[in-house]
Amino acid sequence: MTDSATTSTRPRAAVILAAGQGTRMKSPTPKVLHKLAGRTLLDHAIDAAQGLGCERIVVVVGAHSPQVGKSARKRLGPDATVIQDPPLGTGHAVLAAKDALADFDGDVVVTYADCPLTTASVIAPLFDQLAGGAHVAVLGFEAANPTGYGRLILAPGHVLLRIVEEKEADLATKQVKHCNSGVLAADRAILFDILASVRNDNAKGEYYLTDVVGLAHDRKLVTRAAFAPEASVQGVNSQAELAAAEAVWQKARRNALMVDGVTMPAPDTVHLSWDTKIAGGAVVEQFVIFGPNVSVAAGAQIKAFSHLEGAAVGEGALIGPYARLRPGAEIGAEAHIGNFVEVKNVKVGAGAKANHLSYLGDGSVGEKANIGAGTIFCNYDGFEKFQTHVGKGAFIGSNSALVAPVRVGDGAMTGSGSVITKDVEDGALALSRAEQTTKAGWATKFRALKQAKKDSKK
Ligand code: UD1
Ligand code: CA
Repeated sequence: MTDSATTSTRPRAAVILAAGQGTRMKSPTPKVLHKLAGRTLLDHAIDAAQGLGCERIVVVVGAHSPQVGKSARKRLGPDATVIQDPPLGTGHAVLAAKDALADFDGDVVVTYADCPLTTASVIAPLFDQLAGGAHVAVLGFEAANPTGYGRLILAPGHVLLRIVEEKEADLATKQVKHCNSGVLAADRAILFDILASVRNDNAKGEYYLTDVVGLAHDRKLVTRAAFAPEASVQGVNSQAELAAAEAVWQKARRNALMVDGVTMPAPDTVHLSWDTKIAGGAVVEQFVIFGPNVSVAAGAQIKAFSHLEGAAVGEGALIGPYARLRPGAEIGAEAHIGNFVEVKNVKVGAGAKANHLSYLGDGSVGEKANIGAGTIFCNYDGFEKFQTHVGKGAFIGSNSALVAPVRVGDGAMTGSGSVITKDVEDGALALSRAEQTTKAGWATKFRALKQAKKDSKK
């Protein structure tokens, strides 16, 4: 275990603890299925394990929330969960994963499913400790207020003697600010071997995972701590803590985007999703909301109060203010999508414009086409959805209703106010509205008559 070259490449597995009740959330949704940046807390924890290269991931779930297990198995496969019932402490929870990892030869990291800010890079130093010769490594942090946490009893050189839980701590121990984040890593065989001798003769009557440290130290094994910033190891226990974690995540991600060259004049008003991709050189104005699966290319500008999800915005495109891009909106380079325009499942060609008050749903808009104000793609008959295709360079007159399925050819035009139900060939003009009649002097006579009637009543 002292050869760092060999230990650092040892296989890794993760045990993610998710059997807690989460009662303080006061929600019918299990705690770890609440979302941060549009992704469940559980998925964030799985991301961290995968980011560390864990080839096996076991999620320990309680009997009380089957949805948690279902969600984990959906992502990781049918063997990814074990049930801990009843929950008798963190050590007992890890033991529930013993059989699932019986054939695994390598290092195991234990994490919590309710710590979405504890990413792979936060945990990575634990594996450096293992690579450097530690048999058990614990991720610690310095707490502003340590009350409630397990305290790390340290000797010089990050040597960890034992962990004392709050309920077992005497007054002197309670002064210790070095706390246990809960993340622990050790060789699989050592971890389960020591866990078998952890007892529950403590204040809470629980099997503490933290007792592994003292027991390992007693066996003359090397036990060390690594440290992380407090904000990165904060757990979520209540709705307020979830919102606080979200704020930390959002701020960090916005800062990372700005470092990469994204312009954000009011970053605090921009809400990102876990997977939002924005290229350097793009501009995101005030109060823009990104749902999942959005990419924005360089030079694009997302103007204020726009809402995007499942959309791809091309280079130099101009979106908003007040635009709504929904899943399947693919906006080409230099295209313009203006105020109160909703685009869903439509590919908009390069340089095309839909600047005002339109619904473009299901279909395509060709390069450099112009969609007039108030245009509607009538895509739905109450049962099925149909496609509307507008050709390159076409000009759709304001307030046109394009009743799908329908195709307007390249370079074609539609007259304003038309209801287009039949395909329009390339270069044609389609009009469907009543011919205008004009009655000379009619309005003047009408007004005089009405006024006379009103005056006679006085
Ligand atoms: C635990 C640590 C403490 C640490 C703190 C950090 C122990 C004994 N204590 O305390 O040193 O400072 O976390 O937040 O490990 N869980 C199960 N099954 C159980 C019990 C817990 O799956 O039987 C899960 C919970 O869902 C939760 C995590 O383990 O995600 C931690 O459990 P919790 O009860 O919050 O531990 P703490 O008492 O806060
Ligand atoms: Ca806790």
